[in-house]
Amino acid sequence: MIIAVDGPAASGKGTIAKALARHYGLPHLDTGLLYRAVALTVRRLDLDPAREADAVAACDFDDALLADPALRSDEIGQLASIVSAHPLVRAALLQRQKRFARQDGGAVLDGRDIGSVIAPDADAKLFVKATPQIRAQRRHKELQAHGSPVSFDKVLADIRARDARDSGRSTAPLVMAPDAALLDTSFLSIEASVQKAVALVDARRAKAAE
Ligand code: CDP
Ligand code: CDP
Repeated sequence: MIIAVDGPAASGKGTIAKALARHYGLPHLDTGLLYRAVALTVRRLDLDPAREADAVAACDFDDALLADPALRSDEIGQLASIVSAHPLVRAALLQRQKRFARQDGGAVLDGRDIGSVIAPDADAKLFVKATPQIRAQRRHKELQAHGSPVSFDKVLADIRARDARDSGRSTAPLVMAPDAALLDTSFLSIEASVQKAVALVDARRAKAAE
């Protein structure tokens, strides 16, 4: 069973994908981490994120980087959305994600283009959303907990900029796949969001088994 979870920043897709993986006993891949690792490599090697060749060179990162706490910063999130707009960067990371999705027994992946590009044949697709204000509150709280002094207004502005960039790019933009189920977490607790996600996935599977 392949479960695709897409949505904008801080919509709750990672939390939901992780919980679905636990619920169904499937491995989980947070694909945003791959783009964040490219961004962090660009930053550390002092490359130019706007230059496609520079960003492609950074795709050859060491997997140990995927556990680096520096990936979580707001700055790296922004840089990730700049490098991820390059078609050759997306191409460089494509097979790794497809392989993960197609492994025996299935998988849960979360990102922006899982239902549309990485696993268009997924058994269940969720599109997770929440208002920009609520997403900014969530992300701000998280960043504060990690000791970041970034202001709420900056986080909200960054989220809006990232939404625009991720939705506006020509290669694999953030879109809701036509066969995805919409899950608005704006006014749902984490527990309620996960319950709803499980119900939506079960409904898809029941329908497919008919
Ligand atoms: O957790 P959050 O939603 O803030 O970000 P993320 O999922 O770690 O993704 C960081 C950036 O990587 C996004 O803003 C996208 O530009 C890019 N990304 C992408 O293009 N495609 C994906 N499948 C996942 C992330
Ligand atoms: O993966 P994505 O960036 O979409 O979001 P996330 O990392 O799953 O969630 C962002 C933050 O919102 C985390 O701190 C979650 O605990 C929190 N969250 C929440 O407060 N309420 C929800 N219904 C879902 C997530």
